[in-house]
Amino acid sequence: MKINTAEFIISNSDVSKCPKELLPEYAFIGRSNVGKSSLINMITGRNSLAKTSGKPGKTQLINHFKINSNWFLVDLPGYGYARVSKKTKATFQKFITNYFEKREQLTCAFVLIDIRHEAQKIDLEFINYLGENEIPFCIIFTKADKISPRKIEEHVNAYSAKLLENNWEAMPQHFVTSSTKNIGRDEVLDYIAAVNQS
Ligand code: GTP
Ligand code: MG
Repeated sequence: MKINTAEFIISNSDVSKCPKELLPEYAFIGRSNVGKSSLINMITGRNSLAKTSGKPGKTQLINHFKINSNWFLVDLPGYGYARVSKKTKATFQKFITNYFEKREQLTCAFVLIDIRHEAQKIDLEFINYLGENEIPFCIIFTKADKISPRKIEEHVNAYSAKLLENNWEAMPQHFVTSSTKNIGRDEVLDYIAAVNQS
């Protein structure tokens, strides 16, 4: 899929104030600093569409971007950032769960996982939460430039084994990406194009 236009539409913390248009919507979620905003920039080919930072906790709101005038990409705050207060965590959790449970346009959630690390409890809990709520999702492994191709394969296989241990019947659709090396862009865009046409 070619990206002709990518425009920022609105940021907010209230799902009822998100755009009303019934367009297919794809949201990026995952731990703080996993590379959600960078991946949105890589996928759209727009370097500064979504704000990125070396420090976790950069994205704080639900950010809607309209792509090719016919679908939305959504950049979300990260979960699991240890240095925010309990109150901030609870507020965050509420508006994020509201988003996932109430946003009817949500077509697919992309759950981002840093390819370097072993499966983390917080990600598995989030994946299980999506499953329990019947929210369609894919897994996107990020930062593939940081490890060797052999390690990438090993880590993907280990993740798959972990999900099977967690009672998933199969590894969900998944992608290996690097925002710095432009890896995985076509695969993710082709997937979105195929889902939009189905
Ligand atoms: P929050 O908004 O804070 O939740 O973070 P985020 O998930 O949006 O992460 P962001 O895109 O801001 O990236 C976090 C850091 O990781 C930045 O320093 C990025 O440059 C770096 N980063 C993101 N993707 C990649 C990647 O594919 N490879 C490498 N090497 N670094 C990356
Ligand atoms: Mg971000």
